[in-house]
Amino acid sequence: MFYINRVFGTVSFFNYDFLSPAMISLDSEKKQKIFNELAGLQQRDYCFSSGHILGSMCTVPHPLAREVYLQFLETNLGDLELCPGTKEIESRYIAFISKLLHAPKTSTGQIVSGGTEGNITAMWIAKQLSGKKEILLPTSAHFSFQKIASLMGMKLVEIPVTDDYVMDVTHLKKKIRKTTAAVVGLAGSTELGTIDPIPEISEICAHEHVFFHVDAAFGGFVIPFLKELHYKIPDFDFRLKGVSSISIDSHKMGYAAIPLGTLMVRKKQWLGSISVDSPYISSEKQTGLLGTRSGAPVAAAYAVAQYLGHEGYKQMVRSCMDVTCYTQKRIEQLGLDLVMKPTMNVIGVKLKKPGIVVKKLSEQGWRVNKIERLSCIRLVLMPQITKQIIDEFIPVLQKTCVEVDEL
Ligand SMILES: Cc1ncc(COP(=O)(O)O)c(C=O)c1O
Repeated sequence: MFYINRVFGTVSFFNYDFLSPAMISLDSEKKQKIFNELAGLQQRDYCFSSGHILGSMCTVPHPLAREVYLQFLETNLGDLELCPGTKEIESRYIAFISKLLHAPKTSTGQIVSGGTEGNITAMWIAKQLSGKKEILLPTSAHFSFQKIASLMGMKLVEIPVTDDYVMDVTHLKKKIRKTTAAVVGLAGSTELGTIDPIPEISEICAHEHVFFHVDAAFGGFVIPFLKELHYKIPDFDFRLKGVSSISIDSHKMGYAAIPLGTLMVRKKQWLGSISVDSPYISSEKQTGLLGTRSGAPVAAAYAVAQYLGHEGYKQMVRSCMDVTCYTQKRIEQLGLDLVMKPTMNVIGVKLKKPGIVVKKLSEQGWRVNKIERLSCIRLVLMPQITKQIIDEFIPVLQKTCVEVDEL
């Protein structure tokens, strides 16, 4: 029995002859029962297209990503020789990311499942190259570094942030030592979307010959376009000589399907430090954390990048910033204060009891995050959030804040 794939017309057929008819000829009653069970459970989920998720850094994948994902469901990039076509798609996607981040010819990329794996892989490389275990990172760094410390026995040394919530470089200078394996800077922090002074950090690291990883999981698909839109923000990419690696997530502002990120490293040979011999599969070496990994998110992200192009992403960032500005005004009109003027499409709203406000908003169907450390709630204005949605949300926020004495 053949299943005809209609995604790309009649381009491919999936052969299911190896299954007995009883296993594959879908009994419509049985199928319906399974679908009903799944749909019942899925109904409990919040979905991005409802517009009620205001606290996530993910979004509705582009419709093309949805289609292409299905087409590549059986591909395995863990065994590269088995799928040279999908491997080529991966190379082309890495080339696209490389151009976006102005990576030099000496560089290469490693596809990862997202920001966590990007950070783990970067610190793994730094540890292998230096033989050292100390990571200097701002207090605002993502919690994935806690996993890194635990997994690889590395030590985290926190660098305080300034009043603008970015890494205090004077402290960094004092903390770099012979035992430092890497410095981490944020280009789009998880909590507030701030950008550390990457050019200064880069200079220090170049001078001290220390590995410098830029976590641009969120900001990687925002900052290049903000710069073109004439926002005054620091440089963050490989044009800065001291930047050793950058992680960037496509499943955040790249409008692609989960799970997908890329870790770019300045020198190809660095990946050798995290490669192992791989007997039993067709490639001689395997690089990175994962073994079997799907080509579907890679193909989907590549298709989206081809379709949207540079201008498409720029337009999306422009529109997210427009909604961010609108949201900022509406919140300030309520009489609430922001933690800081937004750098990108992330807003922190100061509250005395953020946990209670988040709980009450959730009871009314709105998903927002609390950041107890900064006594605020965080709104992320992703592409699916429109001004109309904000117009719906603001009265709910106002009523909630009045009820809990925030206003
Ligand atoms: C700056 C930053 N780094 C890393 C991560 C982790 O990304 P993921 O959840 O895709 O692993 C996030 C997630 O929000 C992030 O904002």
